[in-house]
Amino acid sequence: SDHLFDTVELSKWELEQIMERAAFWEKNWRPGQAPFAGRFAANLFFEPSTRTRFSFEIAEKKLGLHVLNVNMEESSTTKGESLCDTVKTLSALGVEVVTVRHREPEAIQELLTEDTGCKIINAGAGKMAHPTQALLDLYTMKKHFGSLSGLKVAMIGDIKHSRVVRSNCWALGKFGVQVIFSGPESMRDHELEKIASYLPFEEAIREADVVMMLRVQLERHHEQLFVSAGEYFKNYGLSIERFQTMKPDAIIMHPGPVNRNVEISDELVEHPRSKIFAQKTNGVFIRMAVLERALGGVQR
Ligand code: CP
Repeated sequence: SDHLFDTVELSKWELEQIMERAAFWEKNWRPGQAPFAGRFAANLFFEPSTRTRFSFEIAEKKLGLHVLNVNMEESSTTKGESLCDTVKTLSALGVEVVTVRHREPEAIQELLTEDTGCKIINAGAGKMAHPTQALLDLYTMKKHFGSLSGLKVAMIGDIKHSRVVRSNCWALGKFGVQVIFSGPESMRDHELEKIASYLPFEEAIREADVVMMLRVQLERHHEQLFVSAGEYFKNYGLSIERFQTMKPDAIIMHPGPVNRNVEISDELVEHPRSKIFAQKTNGVFIRMAVLERALGGVQR
Protein backbone atom coordinates (compact mmCIF):
# COMPACT_ATOMS: atom_id res chain seq x y z
CA SER A 1 0.00 0.00 0.00
CA ASP A 2 1.17 3.52 -0.64
CA HIS A 3 -0.99 5.05 2.03
CA LEU A 4 1.00 6.91 4.67
CA PHE A 5 -0.13 6.82 8.27
CA ASP A 6 3.14 7.05 10.22
CA THR A 7 6.90 6.86 9.85
CA VAL A 8 6.96 3.75 12.04
CA GLU A 9 5.71 1.72 9.07
CA LEU A 10 8.43 2.98 6.69
CA SER A 11 11.80 1.26 6.40
CA LYS A 12 15.03 3.24 6.42
CA TRP A 13 15.21 2.59 2.67
CA GLU A 14 11.69 3.96 2.11
CA LEU A 15 12.47 7.07 4.17
CA GLU A 16 15.60 7.58 2.07
CA GLN A 17 13.64 7.07 -1.16
CA ILE A 18 11.11 9.73 -0.18
CA MET A 19 13.91 12.16 0.71
CA GLU A 20 15.67 11.41 -2.57
CA ARG A 21 12.51 12.17 -4.53
CA ALA A 22 12.04 15.37 -2.50
CA ALA A 23 15.59 16.37 -3.47
CA PHE A 24 14.75 15.54 -7.09
CA TRP A 25 11.71 17.84 -7.07
CA GLU A 26 13.61 20.56 -5.25
CA LYS A 27 16.31 20.51 -7.93
CA ASN A 28 14.28 19.81 -11.04
CA TRP A 29 10.74 21.16 -10.74
CA ARG A 30 10.05 24.06 -13.09
CA PRO A 31 6.82 26.07 -13.60
CA GLY A 32 4.64 24.38 -16.19
CA GLN A 33 5.79 20.88 -15.28
CA ALA A 34 2.69 18.84 -14.42
CA PRO A 35 3.48 15.10 -14.24
CA PHE A 36 0.05 14.22 -12.80
CA ALA A 37 -2.00 16.65 -14.89
CA GLY A 38 -5.73 16.02 -14.95
CA ARG A 39 -5.80 13.79 -11.86
CA PHE A 40 -7.54 14.73 -8.60
CA ALA A 41 -6.52 15.14 -4.95
CA ALA A 42 -8.60 16.25 -1.95
CA ASN A 43 -7.51 17.77 1.36
CA LEU A 44 -9.76 17.04 4.35
CA PHE A 45 -8.74 19.01 7.41
CA PHE A 46 -10.81 18.59 10.59
CA GLU A 47 -8.24 20.49 12.69
CA PRO A 48 -6.67 23.89 11.98
CA SER A 49 -3.55 24.06 9.82
CA THR A 50 -1.52 26.61 7.88
CA ARG A 51 1.76 24.92 6.89
CA THR A 52 0.57 21.39 6.23
CA ARG A 53 -2.64 22.35 4.41
CA PHE A 54 -1.09 24.95 2.13
CA SER A 55 2.08 22.98 1.47
CA PHE A 56 0.02 19.94 0.45
CA GLU A 57 -2.02 22.19 -1.84
CA ILE A 58 1.10 23.73 -3.39
CA ALA A 59 2.74 20.29 -3.73
CA GLU A 60 -0.41 18.95 -5.44
CA LYS A 61 -0.54 21.92 -7.80
CA LYS A 62 3.17 21.65 -8.61
CA LEU A 63 2.52 18.04 -9.62
CA GLY A 64 -0.32 19.22 -11.86
CA LEU A 65 -3.11 17.70 -9.79
CA HIS A 66 -6.55 19.28 -9.58
CA VAL A 67 -7.16 20.07 -5.91
CA LEU A 68 -10.36 19.90 -3.89
CA ASN A 69 -10.16 21.59 -0.51
CA VAL A 70 -13.16 20.31 1.35
CA ASN A 71 -14.28 22.55 4.19
CA MET A 72 -15.28 19.84 6.63
CA GLU A 73 -17.61 22.24 8.46
CA GLU A 74 -19.65 22.45 5.26
CA SER A 75 -19.38 18.80 4.21
CA SER A 76 -22.00 16.10 4.74
CA THR A 77 -19.99 14.72 7.68
CA THR A 78 -22.01 17.31 9.64
CA LYS A 79 -25.16 15.49 8.41
CA GLY A 80 -23.90 12.20 9.78
CA GLU A 81 -22.08 10.81 6.74
CA SER A 82 -19.05 8.90 8.03
CA LEU A 83 -15.54 9.89 7.02
CA CYS A 84 -15.20 6.53 5.22
CA ASP A 85 -18.33 7.21 3.17
CA THR A 86 -17.11 10.73 2.44
CA VAL A 87 -13.83 9.35 1.05
CA LYS A 88 -15.68 6.63 -0.92
CA THR A 89 -17.85 9.41 -2.37
CA LEU A 90 -14.76 11.39 -3.38
CA SER A 91 -13.30 8.23 -4.96
CA ALA A 92 -16.52 7.72 -6.95
CA LEU A 93 -16.16 11.30 -8.20
CA GLY A 94 -12.63 10.59 -9.42
CA VAL A 95 -10.37 11.59 -6.53
CA GLU A 96 -7.31 9.32 -6.19
CA VAL A 97 -5.47 10.68 -3.18
CA VAL A 98 -6.77 12.24 0.03
CA THR A 99 -4.84 13.99 2.79
CA VAL A 100 -6.56 13.96 6.19
CA ARG A 101 -5.95 15.79 9.45
CA HIS A 102 -8.10 14.65 12.36
CA ARG A 103 -7.95 14.82 16.15
CA GLU A 104 -8.89 11.10 16.39
CA PRO A 105 -6.10 8.88 14.96
CA GLU A 106 -8.64 6.03 14.70
CA ALA A 107 -10.68 8.05 12.18
CA ILE A 108 -7.69 8.10 9.82
CA GLN A 109 -6.65 4.52 10.60
CA GLU A 110 -10.12 3.29 9.65
CA LEU A 111 -9.66 4.80 6.17
CA LEU A 112 -6.57 2.64 5.71
CA THR A 113 -8.31 -0.60 6.60
CA GLU A 114 -11.48 0.05 4.57
CA ASP A 115 -11.32 -0.12 0.80
CA THR A 116 -12.23 3.50 0.10
CA GLY A 117 -10.70 3.55 -3.39
CA CYS A 118 -8.39 6.44 -2.43
CA LYS A 119 -4.81 6.54 -1.22
CA ILE A 120 -4.74 8.14 2.23
CA ILE A 121 -2.02 10.44 3.55
CA ASN A 122 -2.07 11.34 7.23
CA ALA A 123 -1.65 15.12 7.58
CA GLY A 124 -1.73 15.01 11.40
CA ALA A 125 -3.47 12.49 13.66
CA GLY A 126 -4.22 13.75 17.19
CA LYS A 127 -1.20 13.31 19.46
CA MET A 128 -0.15 10.19 17.60
CA ALA A 129 1.43 10.83 14.22
CA HIS A 130 2.51 13.53 11.75
CA PRO A 131 4.64 11.64 9.24
CA THR A 132 5.17 14.36 6.62
CA GLN A 133 6.40 16.72 9.35
CA ALA A 134 8.96 14.12 10.50
CA LEU A 135 10.05 13.51 6.90
CA LEU A 136 10.55 17.22 6.26
CA ASP A 137 12.45 17.51 9.54
CA LEU A 138 14.81 14.67 8.58
CA TYR A 139 15.20 16.14 5.11
CA THR A 140 16.09 19.53 6.63
CA MET A 141 18.70 17.94 8.95
CA LYS A 142 20.16 15.82 6.15
CA LYS A 143 20.43 18.82 3.84
CA HIS A 144 22.20 20.85 6.50
CA PHE A 145 24.59 18.23 7.93
CA GLY A 146 25.02 16.10 4.80
CA SER A 147 24.08 12.96 6.74
CA LEU A 148 21.93 11.98 9.71
CA SER A 149 24.49 9.63 11.12
CA GLY A 150 26.00 10.63 14.46
CA LEU A 151 23.56 13.49 15.11
CA LYS A 152 22.03 14.23 18.51
CA VAL A 153 18.56 15.75 18.37
CA ALA A 154 17.08 17.44 21.44
CA MET A 155 13.30 17.88 21.50
CA ILE A 156 12.29 20.45 24.06
CA GLY A 157 8.92 21.21 25.62
CA ASP A 158 5.55 19.55 25.29
CA ILE A 159 6.72 15.99 24.54
CA LYS A 160 3.56 14.45 25.97
CA HIS A 161 1.11 15.99 23.49
CA SER A 162 3.31 16.07 20.39
CA ARG A 163 2.59 13.97 17.31
CA VAL A 164 5.67 15.60 15.76
CA VAL A 165 7.87 14.10 18.49
CA ARG A 166 6.44 10.62 17.98
CA SER A 167 6.81 10.51 14.19
CA ASN A 168 10.29 12.04 14.45
CA CYS A 169 11.39 9.47 17.03
CA TRP A 170 10.35 6.52 14.83
CA ALA A 171 12.01 8.05 11.75
CA LEU A 172 15.23 9.17 13.48
CA GLY A 173 15.44 5.78 15.19
CA LYS A 174 15.78 4.07 11.78
CA PHE A 175 18.95 6.11 11.21
CA GLY A 176 20.36 5.47 14.69
CA VAL A 177 20.05 9.15 15.62
CA GLN A 178 20.22 9.81 19.35
CA VAL A 179 17.15 11.64 20.68
CA ILE A 180 17.16 13.67 23.90
CA PHE A 181 14.05 15.07 25.57
CA SER A 182 13.73 18.00 27.90
CA GLY A 183 11.02 20.31 29.22
CA PRO A 184 8.61 20.70 32.09
CA GLU A 185 8.01 17.72 34.34
CA SER A 186 4.26 17.90 33.62
CA MET A 187 4.86 17.52 29.87
CA ARG A 188 7.15 14.49 30.08
CA ASP A 189 6.14 11.19 28.52
CA HIS A 190 7.62 8.32 30.53
CA GLU A 191 6.56 5.73 27.95
CA LEU A 192 8.52 7.51 25.19
CA GLU A 193 11.51 7.93 27.50
CA LYS A 194 12.14 4.21 27.00
CA ILE A 195 13.69 5.17 23.65
CA ALA A 196 15.23 8.56 24.50
CA SER A 197 17.01 10.03 27.48
CA TYR A 198 15.55 12.91 29.47
CA LEU A 199 18.05 15.62 30.43
CA PRO A 200 17.81 18.96 32.23
CA PHE A 201 17.22 21.76 29.71
CA GLU A 202 20.66 23.41 29.98
CA GLU A 203 22.41 20.08 29.47
CA ALA A 204 20.19 19.03 26.55
CA ILE A 205 20.90 22.18 24.54
CA ARG A 206 24.63 22.00 25.24
CA GLU A 207 24.85 18.48 23.81
CA ALA A 208 22.55 18.69 20.80
CA ASP A 209 23.32 19.22 17.11
CA VAL A 210 19.65 20.00 16.54
CA VAL A 211 17.57 21.86 19.11
CA MET A 212 13.94 21.26 18.19
CA MET A 213 11.63 23.51 20.17
CA LEU A 214 7.98 22.42 20.44
CA ARG A 215 4.79 24.39 20.68
CA VAL A 216 2.86 24.03 23.92
CA GLN A 217 -0.25 22.18 22.73
CA LEU A 218 -2.71 24.11 24.89
CA GLU A 219 -5.69 22.68 22.98
CA ARG A 220 -4.69 19.14 24.03
CA HIS A 221 -4.14 19.85 27.72
CA HIS A 222 -6.75 18.43 29.99
CA GLU A 223 -5.15 19.52 33.22
CA GLN A 224 -3.57 22.82 34.16
CA LEU A 225 -0.03 22.24 32.85
CA PHE A 226 0.75 25.78 31.89
CA VAL A 227 1.38 28.64 34.32
CA SER A 228 1.92 31.64 32.04
CA ALA A 229 3.75 32.42 28.81
CA GLY A 230 6.33 34.50 30.69
CA GLU A 231 6.97 31.79 33.25
CA TYR A 232 7.27 29.12 30.53
CA PHE A 233 9.78 31.22 28.57
CA LYS A 234 11.84 31.87 31.69
CA ASN A 235 12.12 28.16 32.49
CA TYR A 236 11.93 26.37 29.14
CA GLY A 237 12.15 28.97 26.38
CA LEU A 238 15.14 29.19 24.01
CA SER A 239 16.48 32.61 24.98
CA ILE A 240 19.52 34.31 23.42
CA GLU A 241 21.54 33.41 26.53
CA ARG A 242 20.64 29.74 26.22
CA PHE A 243 21.23 29.82 22.45
CA GLN A 244 24.81 30.97 23.16
CA THR A 245 25.44 27.74 25.09
CA MET A 246 24.55 25.58 22.06
CA LYS A 247 27.34 23.92 20.04
CA PRO A 248 28.70 26.47 17.54
CA ASP A 249 27.34 24.53 14.55
CA ALA A 250 24.07 23.37 16.12
CA ILE A 251 20.82 24.44 14.47
CA ILE A 252 17.39 25.47 15.75
CA MET A 253 14.21 23.84 14.47
CA HIS A 254 10.52 24.23 15.31
CA PRO A 255 7.61 22.55 13.49
CA GLY A 256 5.41 25.63 13.87
CA PRO A 257 3.16 27.33 14.55
CA VAL A 258 5.62 29.28 16.72
CA ASN A 259 4.53 31.15 19.82
CA ARG A 260 7.21 33.84 19.81
CA ASN A 261 8.65 34.54 23.25
CA VAL A 262 6.93 31.46 24.70
CA GLU A 263 9.03 28.53 23.37
CA ILE A 264 11.61 30.65 21.59
CA SER A 265 12.90 34.19 21.61
CA ASP A 266 11.41 36.33 18.86
CA GLU A 267 14.89 37.22 17.56
CA LEU A 268 15.96 33.60 17.13
CA VAL A 269 13.13 32.64 14.76
CA GLU A 270 14.87 34.35 11.79
CA HIS A 271 18.42 33.72 13.05
CA PRO A 272 20.85 32.35 10.40
CA ARG A 273 21.16 29.16 12.46
CA SER A 274 17.37 28.73 12.62
CA LYS A 275 15.94 26.33 10.03
CA ILE A 276 12.34 27.22 10.87
CA PHE A 277 11.58 28.77 7.46
CA ALA A 278 13.66 26.18 5.59
CA GLN A 279 11.48 23.51 7.23
CA LYS A 280 8.37 25.08 5.71
CA THR A 281 9.97 25.29 2.24
CA ASN A 282 11.23 21.71 2.46
CA GLY A 283 7.73 20.55 3.40
CA VAL A 284 6.52 21.25 -0.14
CA PHE A 285 9.15 18.92 -1.70
CA ILE A 286 8.56 16.18 0.85
CA ARG A 287 4.83 16.35 0.21
CA MET A 288 5.42 16.18 -3.56
CA ALA A 289 7.41 12.98 -2.95
CA VAL A 290 4.74 11.48 -0.68
CA LEU A 291 1.94 12.31 -3.14
CA GLU A 292 3.95 10.88 -6.02
CA ARG A 293 4.46 7.67 -4.02
CA ALA A 294 0.72 7.46 -3.27
CA LEU A 295 -0.06 7.86 -6.97
CA GLY A 296 2.31 5.06 -7.95
CA GLY A 297 5.18 7.22 -9.18
CA VAL A 298 5.74 9.24 -12.30
CA GLN A 299 5.79 7.30 -15.58
CA ARG A 300 9.41 7.77 -16.58
N1 CP B 1 3.69 21.99 11.61
C1 CP B 1 2.38 21.93 11.33
O1 CP B 1 1.77 20.86 11.22
O2 CP B 1 1.77 23.15 11.16
P1 CP B 1 0.23 23.39 10.79
O3 CP B 1 -0.58 22.94 11.97
O4 CP B 1 0.07 24.87 10.49
O5 CP B 1 -0.07 22.55 9.58
